[in-house]
Amino acid sequence: MKGHCLAKSTGRGTPGATAIRYLLRLVPSLKLEYIDASAHSLTGRPAEAFYKNARLLIQSLHPDDRAAMQREFHCPSGALLTLRWLRPDGSVIWSEHRLTALLDPLGRLTGIDGEACELVNGSSALLRRMARTTGELRFIPGSGAGRSIGRSLMDLSEAQAVMMLEVDRNRLAPFWAEGVSLQDSAGLLDELEPLAGGLAPISQALYFGPPFASRSRMGAALRQAGWQAAAVCVLACQDRLSALGVCLYRQPPDWSADLQGCLAALSQHAAVVLENARLRSDLETARLESVLALARMMEARDAYTAAHGHSMVGWCERVARRLGLAEERIESLSWASLLHDIGKVGIPDSILTKPASLSAEEWTLMRQHPAIGEKIISSIQRLQAAAPIIRAHHEHYDGNGYPQGLAGDQIPLEARILSVVDAFCAMIDLRVYRPARSPRQALEELKRCAGSQFDPRVVRAFLEVYREGAEAQPEDARFTARWNSAPGLG
Ligand SMILES: [Fe+2]
Repeated sequence: MKGHCLAKSTGRGTPGATAIRYLLRLVPSLKLEYIDASAHSLTGRPAEAFYKNARLLIQSLHPDDRAAMQREFHCPSGALLTLRWLRPDGSVIWSEHRLTALLDPLGRLTGIDGEACELVNGSSALLRRMARTTGELRFIPGSGAGRSIGRSLMDLSEAQAVMMLEVDRNRLAPFWAEGVSLQDSAGLLDELEPLAGGLAPISQALYFGPPFASRSRMGAALRQAGWQAAAVCVLACQDRLSALGVCLYRQPPDWSADLQGCLAALSQHAAVVLENARLRSDLETARLESVLALARMMEARDAYTAAHGHSMVGWCERVARRLGLAEERIESLSWASLLHDIGKVGIPDSILTKPASLSAEEWTLMRQHPAIGEKIISSIQRLQAAAPIIRAHHEHYDGNGYPQGLAGDQIPLEARILSVVDAFCAMIDLRVYRPARSPRQALEELKRCAGSQFDPRVVRAFLEVYREGAEAQPEDARFTARWNSAPGLG
């Protein structure tokens, strides 16, 4: 696998454009065997720089294109990629890239034969950008729709900034922006609002900038905010105007019919994506409301479960913070603590409120509630992370819990926290089948079971948090409203 065996670059792609060919060895380690000397005119970097550091082949690309190139490096598909070289002087060169796998006799990947050719034809580059941006939009998750649409518009338009504005009853509400301060754009937003009010619900791209808008109010508002031109992409779906994507330029772009057509087509596609995201969000909200209704129904059946779930949220949050959990994990734990016994909806009243110890058969039923709870919660996207916590909230640190008999670190840390707090709150509450214990007795019991039922690290954190709470509040007010707040829906 020697460089001198390679044919010179074929120049495949745009006729007359700069092209390079290179050969990478992957085994035993990443090493560049050969690259055309013309690498300099394409990438702005001398060939020697790539010999010194083969990873520069990826690092010289636009940040948004590196992941695609890395994927090809791991598994060359031979597909034609459109990638941007980011030259040291800040200029961007569009290129077509193709990687071919070099295999040993056993079929193992040992190297890569790479070829890159500059795209000098504007329409060709635009169409490839169009293909890529629409492809990216197809795979975005619902919650990131605004960001993904904004990024796609920015990529296709080559604008320096983009604002995404939701249109609601002729009012505009910014929901994503990049490269622009919304505070500095107040005048521009004032001009856009009446424009949105008069627009037909058709996906299209409008241009504001020289020479058409040099004396218009919109042109003046743009210049005042430091911009020379704007492409306003109108997103409309099912006869409804849903959003505006405002692409802002420091220098007037080459506003061609091709660019206008591509932006209009992307706007149409983006409007459908946005509508789907909205429908998914509505569905998610409906599911969440169903679960909350179920939780409220549980509260009506069993007053103990109601008070118990609410009082646990605050304790769980404070212990989790003491143990250094990230905010998103704490939020999931809060949901889990509030809904941890929702699976009891599947347990008959005769067992749930029985004023005596349960029989072995009744216990078998009762022990199903973590799994039932997990199943209910799993249907809601935003509560997904709470589901395994709920499933494991009766596992014991020594492996003697249920439903799976997990032990130690096999049990999610959030579930170990929930287990300690659940036990403490249960002990100090009056139950139909036994009197309440004092907080002091409950704390002693936690200490006694540290290492067997409970994670000793969590018990330690709980004792510290409890002590601070006790110092801050009078004894009889300890379990009042301070701990009763449920996590919000926002
Ligand atoms: Fe439970």
